[in-house]
Amino acid sequence: MSASPPIVVIARLLLPAGLESLRARYEVREGGLDVTREQLLELVPGAAALVADPTVPVDAELLNACGEQLRVVANFAVGYDNIDLAACAERRVIVTNTPEVLTEATAELALALTLAAARRMSDAERDLRAGRWRGLEPAAYLGLELRGATVGVVGLGRIGGRYAALVSSVGAEVLYTGHNPKPEAERELGARRLELGELLAASDVVSLHAPSAPETHHLIGEAELELIGPEGVLVNTARGSLVDAEALAGALERGTLGGAGLDVYEDEPDVPASLLAAPRCVLLPHIGSATVTSRNAMARLVAENVIAVLEGREPPDPVG
Ligand code: DGY
Repeated sequence: MSASPPIVVIARLLLPAGLESLRARYEVREGGLDVTREQLLELVPGAAALVADPTVPVDAELLNACGEQLRVVANFAVGYDNIDLAACAERRVIVTNTPEVLTEATAELALALTLAAARRMSDAERDLRAGRWRGLEPAAYLGLELRGATVGVVGLGRIGGRYAALVSSVGAEVLYTGHNPKPEAERELGARRLELGELLAASDVVSLHAPSAPETHHLIGEAELELIGPEGVLVNTARGSLVDAEALAGALERGTLGGAGLDVYEDEPDVPASLLAAPRCVLLPHIGSATVTSRNAMARLVAENVIAVLEGREPPDPVG
């Protein structure tokens, strides 16, 4: 009698680009987009692999529910702040992510949000749709031109680096923060490294590309927003926890911050009511990596990581 195949649990949903190769080898169980925590806890017992995404907290309780045969948690994302790495390590569970393949998509979205927020596109579109447009208004919706603007990149990693190259290509000057100097960006883009406070004060646009971690929690609060100032724009495509949302909404409301473009929120999918009501604020539903190319490649990478671990090989993208 042949042994039954290992069980792979997809906590929510995986695109066919990755799902099919998993289905061909394993017993695959899927939670679906609206899976509740209770349903997930009932779905995972016996799993050898768990496929998660940023909305799925992978903690000790979920790992225990999976059982001792769990070998890998494969995250459908480059960020893995939803996963308790220590709890995985204690249980000798390998964690993987999907780097590189979403760099371009996310950097492009950060550029799109920069332009949308700098040019007040949300307010303008809302007014047009509501029938409030009175024809070309010489003094309305005046925004910031990116050419000649100073853009501060907080975290010049893969995505931040690509975003810096994109804004530089339209003529912006690039500043950056980070633990280490980036000689290549300094050489090729003329980027200058500054301390966070100096960067915030000197930038017309500040774009966040740092990971979520205890030391980056509410990195941008009231004092930092004041440094960016009434003409400045804040863009966040990294993680919601980097920004104190109430402070941000207050600054937009008072006009002490020029504008904001957000793709991520601290408690997704909840978006604070104060942000929904705030002026000069473009809000997107975490679509940084949402291109056909990127999402298919992420799904393939998830499957490759799962298959590698279950076949006893080193996965391409281990983290932690
Ligand atoms: C990531 O990969 O971390 C993104 O936020 C998902 O789109």
